[in-house]
Amino acid sequence: MKTTKLIISLLLLCLLFAGCTKAKEQTAPDNAPEESAENTEASNTPAVTVPETQETGTYPVFDFESKTVTLNSGHAMPILGLGMFSLSDQEAENSTYWALKAGFRLIDTARIYGNEEAVGRGLRRAIHDGIVTREEVFITTKMWTSDFDNAEEAIDASLERLGLDYIDLMILHHSQPSNDVEAYQAMEKAVAEGKLRSIGLSNYYEPEDFDRVVNATTIKPALLQNETHPYHQSLQMKEHIGQYGTVLESWFPLGGRGNTQTLFNDETISAIAKAHGVSSAQVIIRWHLQAGNICIPGSSNEDHINEDYDVWDFELTKEEMEAMAALEKDDRFADY
Ligand SMILES: NC(=O)c1ccc[n+]([C@@H]2O[C@H](COP(=O)([O-])OP(=O)(O)OC[C@H]3O[C@@H](n4cnc5c(N)ncnc54)[C@H](OP(=O)(O)O)[C@@H]3O)[C@@H](O)[C@H]2O)c1
Repeated sequence: MKTTKLIISLLLLCLLFAGCTKAKEQTAPDNAPEESAENTEASNTPAVTVPETQETGTYPVFDFESKTVTLNSGHAMPILGLGMFSLSDQEAENSTYWALKAGFRLIDTARIYGNEEAVGRGLRRAIHDGIVTREEVFITTKMWTSDFDNAEEAIDASLERLGLDYIDLMILHHSQPSNDVEAYQAMEKAVAEGKLRSIGLSNYYEPEDFDRVVNATTIKPALLQNETHPYHQSLQMKEHIGQYGTVLESWFPLGGRGNTQTLFNDETISAIAKAHGVSSAQVIIRWHLQAGNICIPGSSNEDHINEDYDVWDFELTKEEMEAMAALEKDDRFADY
């Protein structure tokens, strides 16, 4: 009898507790802190398709509210930037300035592009005109393979040409097994000295090649920049680098100069563009971001630059992301 009473009391207590919790949920004001944070996240989170690893919390998660991703170095990096490959000095300076004016906060250059000085000038023009501060802008440059044997000097030379006292991200431009580990170690030293904030790799297409550098060094690459677009989605490497918290960045995101029409006229991409009333370029850029790829389209045309940044007010649906995923052909446009 005593036991029955105890069970009934316990049941009543449980019911009472459940009722209170429900009442609390129902009466919580719309602007209650935890609730509003969740609501904001829900309403601002697009249909993002992420590699498996992101679900385990290792592949960095993109924040569409701040338009940044937190790298494994702890630094925030914009998820959309402008690329400087093949731009002349005048074009690079203007494109950097126009990009910052349009809202871009990430500029991607390289020693081998020969336009680091011009990027520095474009940045200083934008700072002078009150468009940005240095701290708001994220500058990436790359160390060319012929500099790997003199990496410390190469880092100082890039700082000098850019006119900066620190570089947000420096990456090795290409895999070069004979001496890339030593070059990477020089970048690690420069991180300790405050010259570089984050470091990473570019053009490592095999997990073993990437691991060769990771296993011989201390700082995990913050980023891997590889050719990536709807016809070459880099899924294997993205899956692989996720375990290190390394994020993928797409070069040739639109297919590269001379190839863009192939992607722009793709039936699937054109149909999605039509459905959203945007251009094919915007669909592809939006796809990169929702797929978890930092995207750095290149352009020397101010209208294109403005268009390429105007990708925040529409969202590809889950079905559209699946249709884009189905375009994978393991087909690269570049031959290196
Ligand atoms: N790590 C590496 O080895 C490596 C290799 C290649 C590139 N990258 C980096 O990745 C960046 C992007 O690659 P990329 O510039 O070679 O190729 P991309 O971004 O795929 O394509 C650039 C082409 O797209 C056009 N374009 C851009 N926006 C457009 C728009 N809204 N409508 C129509 N056309 C548009 C550009 O023409 P307009 O100039 O006329 O706009 C240009 O012809 C480079 O700039 C560079 O920073 C790195």
